[in-house]
Amino acid sequence: MLKQLSLTNWKSFGPEGPANPPLQFAPLTLLVGPNASGKSNALDALRFLQGAALFSLGDVLRGHSEAGVEIWPPIRGGVVEAAHAGTDTFTLGARWEVPSGHVRHRIVVSTEGEVTASDDSIDLESGGHAGIARDSHSPWSRLARVRNDPPPPADLAFADEVGRELREAVFLDIRPSLMRAYRPLNGGHLGTSGENVSPVLAALPEDKLADVVDWLSELCGPEIACLEFDVTKLREVMMILVERGGRKISARSVSDGTLRFLGLVVALLTAPTGALLVIEEPDVGLHPSRIRLLAELLENLTRKRHIQVIATTHSATLLAHLSPESLANVVAFGRDADTGDTHCRRLGELPHFETLRDSKNIEQLISTGWLERAL
Ligand SMILES: Nc1ncnc2c1ncn2[C@@H]1O[C@H](COP(=O)(O)OP(=O)(O)OP(=O)(O)O)[C@@H](O)[C@H]1O
Ligand SMILES: [Mg+2]
Repeated sequence: MLKQLSLTNWKSFGPEGPANPPLQFAPLTLLVGPNASGKSNALDALRFLQGAALFSLGDVLRGHSEAGVEIWPPIRGGVVEAAHAGTDTFTLGARWEVPSGHVRHRIVVSTEGEVTASDDSIDLESGGHAGIARDSHSPWSRLARVRNDPPPPADLAFADEVGRELREAVFLDIRPSLMRAYRPLNGGHLGTSGENVSPVLAALPEDKLADVVDWLSELCGPEIACLEFDVTKLREVMMILVERGGRKISARSVSDGTLRFLGLVVALLTAPTGALLVIEEPDVGLHPSRIRLLAELLENLTRKRHIQVIATTHSATLLAHLSPESLANVVAFGRDADTGDTHCRRLGELPHFETLRDSKNIEQLISTGWLERAL
């Protein structure tokens, strides 16, 4: 599980110091704050770290294609705007809880000329160090083994564990328009946009499919009876939503909000146990009366499936429906009035947290800017 992330001179995050403390993460952490306050920049840093466990650093920022097919989209802003304006070096530090213990990973990246790391290393807090050497073809765990000197393999398990956490992390920015097409059966993962929802659903065991239908029925009322699948001769599949009374609606005509919610449910039900899910604005497209269901979905499945969710949101209603514990773990983002840099704080650490928690009208406090003033 990711416990902490420190972002130094990364995009809108400024230099190291008291104004830029590390972000703290729980099993469910929502990131809130005004537009352009740096929430997605923080998620971009996680994407960078995942990419760095898979590709060369330049490719992580610029994007990576194989045989003309893009398999890793570029990070927003590419190489030029990865480092904080006026600088050309950024440092990302992450603290993970893995089976071997607590582990710190730190990477210092220069974007001047070729993108290179001057430090890229992993430390087990109870002792043990692995440096990571990179070339454009080798996965990081093998390189960690190569570099550590002398490397009794058991001592490097923690480096492998961090690499696995990163590679298994799921990023979701759901686009209903991409979920409406026939897709090849055995389409693999859901996809960042949820584009493979039909094949992933078609491959689910009956009990999981029943769970999906249950959650959907909560969203849409009792009209949903089951999901069916249309498979073409070319082994492509599209899901069909069957309403009570027998009416069948293909993915082409299912509503945007239903598809968004469906994508979320499928991601949360199919992510490997222990995996990190990073989600952009899961509340988008949901009617305010259904946001309670979203809070329930996120809290319920992170707990039951032992997965970790980090998600951005603009929904004050979503915060109002969180348990006090999840509310304390929300991270509020803002921009420093003097420097313009991102600053953030866990709500539980705010001196006025009790006022927020006990307020009968959290939504009003948040939508009137109380939170930004309290930061
Ligand atoms: N290299 C950089 N140096 C300084 N600031 C940057 C840099 N790159 C991006 N920014 C700032 O970060 C902002 C984008 O932040 P981000 O996308 O994280 O916002 P957000 O909180 O997700 O907002 P929204 O809710 O609108 O999605 C830009 O508008 C810019 O002000
Ligand atoms: Mg954003």
